[in-house]
Amino acid sequence: MGWSGRKILLGITGSIAAYKTTWIIRQLKNNGAEVQVVCSPDALGFVTPLTLSTLSERPVFSEFVRSDQGEWVNHVALGMWADLMLIAPCSAQTLAKMAGGLCDNLLMAVYLSARCPVWFAPAMDLDMWKHPATTRNVLELVSRPNHKMLGPASGALASGLSGVGRMAEPQDIVGALDQWWSNNKDLVTAESSATMRDQLILITAGPTREAIDDVRYISNHSSGKMGYALAQVCLDLDARVVLISGPVSLPPPHGLFAFIPVESAMEMQEAVKKYQEQFDIGIFCAAVADFRPVRKTEGKVKKKDGIFPIELVANPDILAEVGSKKRSDQFLVGFALETANGLAEAERKKSIKNCDMLVLNNMQDPGAGFGQDTNQVTLFSAKGITELSLAPKKEIARQIIQHLLQCYSPA
Ligand code: CTP
Repeated sequence: MGWSGRKILLGITGSIAAYKTTWIIRQLKNNGAEVQVVCSPDALGFVTPLTLSTLSERPVFSEFVRSDQGEWVNHVALGMWADLMLIAPCSAQTLAKMAGGLCDNLLMAVYLSARCPVWFAPAMDLDMWKHPATTRNVLELVSRPNHKMLGPASGALASGLSGVGRMAEPQDIVGALDQWWSNNKDLVTAESSATMRDQLILITAGPTREAIDDVRYISNHSSGKMGYALAQVCLDLDARVVLISGPVSLPPPHGLFAFIPVESAMEMQEAVKKYQEQFDIGIFCAAVADFRPVRKTEGKVKKKDGIFPIELVANPDILAEVGSKKRSDQFLVGFALETANGLAEAERKKSIKNCDMLVLNNMQDPGAGFGQDTNQVTLFSAKGITELSLAPKKEIARQIIQHLLQCYSPA
């Protein structure tokens, strides 16, 4: 496990499971992470600061002012320092405070100041866990960008009862962290979150449908997976994401700034226009139908023999229009889907549509293209041409944003 240099804020709250967190600290440290412990006042009834500071090799903070030295503990700096905040165990009380935004102790002030992903491992008795108030708080927290809940597990509880409410096993928590680091490598860091935080990212995704009559349409096989994966990565980095999506069967990610479902290219164009002035980064991933029937027939066209034409007219090129009005502080990413002359076509589209970066999907590459869970793309940007290897679309989305972060700096 290579966690060298990872900075973890470990929040500990008042629960008997706090003693297990000492094992977590040891593992994190053994793996090379830096660990800063922040306790709620109640946590110190379960574990001593001496144990925690010895294991973490740092002073343990629990008060706004260190009474022995009269020194103010800078919760904002702590919140910005971390790559990840883990609250384990997270008591019902702390869960409720997090959901409500209460700030009556240092741990809560650090939580409210944190810019990094926040993971929490609830620990409480089974009836507290099942209570509608806890359910509401949990639903609120898991719907927030960058929040992830671990557990709780089921088993013996401190009360002598048995059921759901135990803190997730420490080895499962460390295992989940390990998997996350290896999936995210260097993407979600305090620095990248600081760049993307609150940036307005406009993403178009999925196909468009161009109506022939009330029951038929022209469309394509786009599944929307790539655009939705990109939206999720941007949300993980705390950006404000507007997702304008053609019809797909995917649920919109939690925590979007706005979700605008559309059908046709004309509707997508209208939705995009509303954000033309506001967006900081535009990512145009949608497979917009290039043509639409000149007129839509009312009702259903009846069947007839022989050949009959459908007259088509070109749709507006939404990306080209946005590119022509783009300000120098706006960053534009286009996509290109090619079946031949990929490199030349990608360069041409990047230039005529005034994009800062272009992602080429080559339909001929095995494993790439519509509906697949994997993709193989080539990136064109100020950094030159970068070929990414075949990977799941979620991983490709991560690498696209990682590349974007090397080219983009907010105004
Ligand atoms: N695009 C768009 N509006 C259109 C057509 C395309 O916004 N009417 C955007 C796509 O979202 C993509 C880029 O333009 O980011 C290129 O799309 P692509 O289908 O590869 O190319 P086209 O410009 O449509 O050209 P062609 O179909 O001839 O390859």
